[in-house]
Amino acid sequence: MGCRNISVVMVIFILAAPALSWRMYRLRRSIDLSATNPLIPDSKLPTELVPMNYTLRLELNVERLTFEGYVKIAMTCVKRTNQINLHAHQDLHIDEESMEIWRHGDDGERHLLKIRRIDRVPKKPLLVVYFHDDFVVGGSYGARVPFKGGIWENTDGLFQGKYTLSDGEHPQEHQYFATHFRPHNARRVFPCFDEPSYKVPFKVSIVRPKGYHTLFNTELESTEPAEDDLEEDHFKVTPPISTYSLGFVVSNLSEVKCSEDGASSESPIVRVWARQELQEPMQDVQKKIKRVLDYLVDYWNVSYPLTKLDIVALPNFSAVKPADNWGLIVFKEYELQHGYYGIAQELVYQWLGSWVTPRWWSDAHVNKAVAGFLAASAAISIDSGVEFEGKWPMTTLYSIYYEFSKRYPHSRITAMKQETTCSKTELVLRMLNFTLGADTFKKGLQKTIEHREYKTFVSNDIWEALTKQAHLDNRLCESASVNEIVDSWITLDRIPMVTVIRSYAKGTATATQKLYLRERPHDVPDQEKMLWWIPLVLMRQDRLNFANTSVSKWMKKVKEVELENLPDANNFIIVNPEEIGPFPVNYDQHNWNLLANYLLTEEGRMKIPVYTRAKLLHDAWNLAYAGELSFATAFNMTLFIQYERNHLVWNPVFTFIDHIGRHIDMSAVHKKFEIYVRTLLTPLYEGLMNNQHEDEDKSTGNLRTLAKTFLCKAGYKPCVEEAQSVFKIWMDSPEPDNGNPVANQFICPVFEWGTQEEWDFGLQRVMNFPESRMKSERTYLLKTLAGCPVQAAKINRLLNLTVLENNENFTDNDISLILKMLSGSSHGYMVLFKFLQQNWDTLKLRYKDREALWDNLISSATGLFTTQEGYDMVSQLYVQHQGEFGTAEHIIEKSLKNIKEETKWSNENLPVIEEWLDNLLSHNQANGDKFMDQ
Ligand SMILES: *[C@@H]1O[C@H](CO)[C@@H](O)[C@H](O)[C@H]1NC(C)=O
Ligand SMILES: *[C@@H]1O[C@H](CO)[C@@H](O)[C@H](O)[C@H]1NC(C)=O
Ligand SMILES: *[C@@H]1O[C@H](CO)[C@@H](O)[C@H](O)[C@H]1NC(C)=O
Ligand SMILES: *[C@@H]1O[C@H](CO)[C@@H](O)[C@H](O)[C@H]1NC(C)=O
Ligand SMILES: *[C@@H]1O[C@H](CO)[C@@H](O)[C@H](O)[C@H]1NC(C)=O
Ligand SMILES: *[C@@H]1O[C@H](CO)[C@@H](O)[C@H](O)[C@H]1NC(C)=O
Repeated sequence: MGCRNISVVMVIFILAAPALSWRMYRLRRSIDLSATNPLIPDSKLPTELVPMNYTLRLELNVERLTFEGYVKIAMTCVKRTNQINLHAHQDLHIDEESMEIWRHGDDGERHLLKIRRIDRVPKKPLLVVYFHDDFVVGGSYGARVPFKGGIWENTDGLFQGKYTLSDGEHPQEHQYFATHFRPHNARRVFPCFDEPSYKVPFKVSIVRPKGYHTLFNTELESTEPAEDDLEEDHFKVTPPISTYSLGFVVSNLSEVKCSEDGASSESPIVRVWARQELQEPMQDVQKKIKRVLDYLVDYWNVSYPLTKLDIVALPNFSAVKPADNWGLIVFKEYELQHGYYGIAQELVYQWLGSWVTPRWWSDAHVNKAVAGFLAASAAISIDSGVEFEGKWPMTTLYSIYYEFSKRYPHSRITAMKQETTCSKTELVLRMLNFTLGADTFKKGLQKTIEHREYKTFVSNDIWEALTKQAHLDNRLCESASVNEIVDSWITLDRIPMVTVIRSYAKGTATATQKLYLRERPHDVPDQEKMLWWIPLVLMRQDRLNFANTSVSKWMKKVKEVELENLPDANNFIIVNPEEIGPFPVNYDQHNWNLLANYLLTEEGRMKIPVYTRAKLLHDAWNLAYAGELSFATAFNMTLFIQYERNHLVWNPVFTFIDHIGRHIDMSAVHKKFEIYVRTLLTPLYEGLMNNQHEDEDKSTGNLRTLAKTFLCKAGYKPCVEEAQSVFKIWMDSPEPDNGNPVANQFICPVFEWGTQEEWDFGLQRVMNFPESRMKSERTYLLKTLAGCPVQAAKINRLLNLTVLENNENFTDNDISLILKMLSGSSHGYMVLFKFLQQNWDTLKLRYKDREALWDNLISSATGLFTTQEGYDMVSQLYVQHQGEFGTAEHIIEKSLKNIKEETKWSNENLPVIEEWLDNLLSHNQANGDKFMDQ
């Protein structure tokens, strides 16, 4: 959570846009570049000289958008050297002529040193000053370096921003100047030791024009006039802080008058700054901040270490992350207007980030994970989970389940790797919080920061403090350490699955662990060696108590353990309830059936909490998909959702419908599956429609939208007709190319179930798309034109036009996009395959010199089949055109291999699925008349 999460779960809903609402609160999340940013040079400054404090004077020239000033750095020599190395960005001009370096003599006098040479290292942000003689170890030195630089618009370093105030009739343009130094942009403003571990006091003064005010890390001490209508502000000396925690905002923003109530704690002084117009919406921000501070002070059991905190809602602030300077946090305006999570995350950094600081950026991901975890805990504790709608941590967890069970996790999007490392750490923290107990966990974190104020820590310090506390509280046996546990989860981008097979006669069970793989074939090398520290938390039907999350047994990196004293065969057990650890659990069939039957009772649905209901369903289905469990059992586990109205339990159901739907797309079973989906969703949706009311929570609305989207896809008439009537407005408009009045959610149903005429209209809009409009709108139309239809004629028309007729309105990129969309459903790739077969010679000739497109074509047309029939078709093509595939030779070979694997899956599972569906549908009415005919 502290980690932006590219939700894998959602990527699969290619066109099911409403599913995206799941990540609304994630969109605000940002990539913290500091976590594992490869751009942060690993080469650190030499350590012979260390800074003791800085005095910084900065003068802004707001007309010329420049700044100038000097920095005085007091340093101590700890090892012999004859040079000073400082960070200074290439764009920063250093006045080398007037630079002064001196030694503090024993007499208290300054002795200027003669500089031998000054280097700006090419392409590196370094300033190196050489001397003739070595410095004296233990000696105190000083440097005074004058500099000049530019104020830019992008938010690295010192930047300018603008906003308009509509003050009465005259809108007024305003500007502000602010800094964002994290992770290493202080060097853009002044030469310094720009590394987090150097934490020293700063004495700062800033010269600004009159009419503005300056907010800084510390309180203003005095202001004095300077020439030319300028004023100089002097600030109190900061506590020891890292360069990246330094920050200021020069602006004309107003202090928000806050609503009176709720300001429980006196200190620190919390001030909120915003545009005049935002006074009203911002008035409860101070209260929110105080509530979060109270929570955190209580959690850390350490008072807020500063006397004031300024919170700025900076207009048009475009940085990905808030600037969490010590005592001065700068947010985007909207970030302050909803929820507690974002605020809490930044506030955690005041303790764990500024006060106690990660020594180096490689330690920052743990810091970030802790911040994410605590922020979520704070938000949930304050508003009882309203902000997350209970989705924390499921969204993150499910993406990890899907990504890590691939054969090659992160093979496509490497940027995700950094994100998931952090998300995973957060889930491991959650696991520790449950299994060590919230109290032990909290004390461990408190110990981590104890006596480290104004100092730094490394990741291991956290794990060690937790280990000590866990031993002290008897929550972990002496031979085990949190380091080992965490290590087994964090090192690999993999997760285990646990299988629990009960011996009902003996009252025991065997739990085994192995690598969890959903994607086939399961041929990951060395998987035998992958073992985890797994906490087995156990619930039993005869003594249900979901509040007790203590561990029955740890699997200490062993393959198998025995569980004893289990209940009899009339009582189920649940291992890993509430997704305590990030791993799925499989059982023997009898235990699954006990669970399925229990969930069908009202008592069952009341006593088993939401996360656990969702987990049982999610695990069963995914384990079946992975080939670990019979689909009949997994389908049995879905029966209870006809009574389920909690969106958290429903959400994964939509994922299954999509996954399974696609996999069995080509087989006769698909029709029956579709009927099953209709029988599940129609009552859900109609129930939700009949019970709409104004003050329902957001999640109910989301669930309704999701149900509708999937029903629409399945041809639910009321929905298709609504979409068509909206689409007609567009078709009737005199200038249809000027803009699209149809909301995205209506487009796919029209192209899927609507007439050829409607679809042609869409095609015309793509062809005539004016340059002036947003390109993404065209892309969306093209995607839906290709990806939605089920009728071969529409798809053929598109292929004829773009590929055969070479219509000039479509680029190679468009064709790639069309191919990709066609590979998303069997209707698409079937037509594409036949198209390839029929036009082989033409296509071969056309794509002679366009290998990427040719490869793409072969892959999209052949790679997605999942049945024997498909295998026969593709291998026939392969034989027929042997030697003609060129660069795509290995692609079709890979397709054949994959189809074989998937066919095996289909042969094993389709009959089981079909039998189960037949059995169910023989008892059920099918709502057929409410749906479009295919
Ligand atoms: C900085 O350190 C020097 C040398 O230790 C000391 O003389 C000076 O007073 C310090 N300045 C500040 C602002 O702390
Ligand atoms: C700042 O705002 C005040 C009152 O809104 C106004 O009088 C003053 O001119 C503004 N200063 C600048 C530099 O815009
Ligand atoms: C820390 O905990 C102790 C004991 O519970 C309590 O007396 C003290 O007030 C707490 N300090 C803070 C800053 O919360
Ligand atoms: C599915 O549930 C039914 C009814 O409880 C049961 O008879 C059957 O054995 C279950 N099937 C599987 C494969 O678990
Ligand atoms: C491409 O689109 C334009 C309108 O933007 C149209 O006039 C032209 O005929 C189209 N080209 C082809 C080959 O269809
Ligand atoms: C596509 O082109 C082929 C051959 O040129 C033609 O037979 C077929 O009718 C066309 N299909 C559509 C839908 O335009």
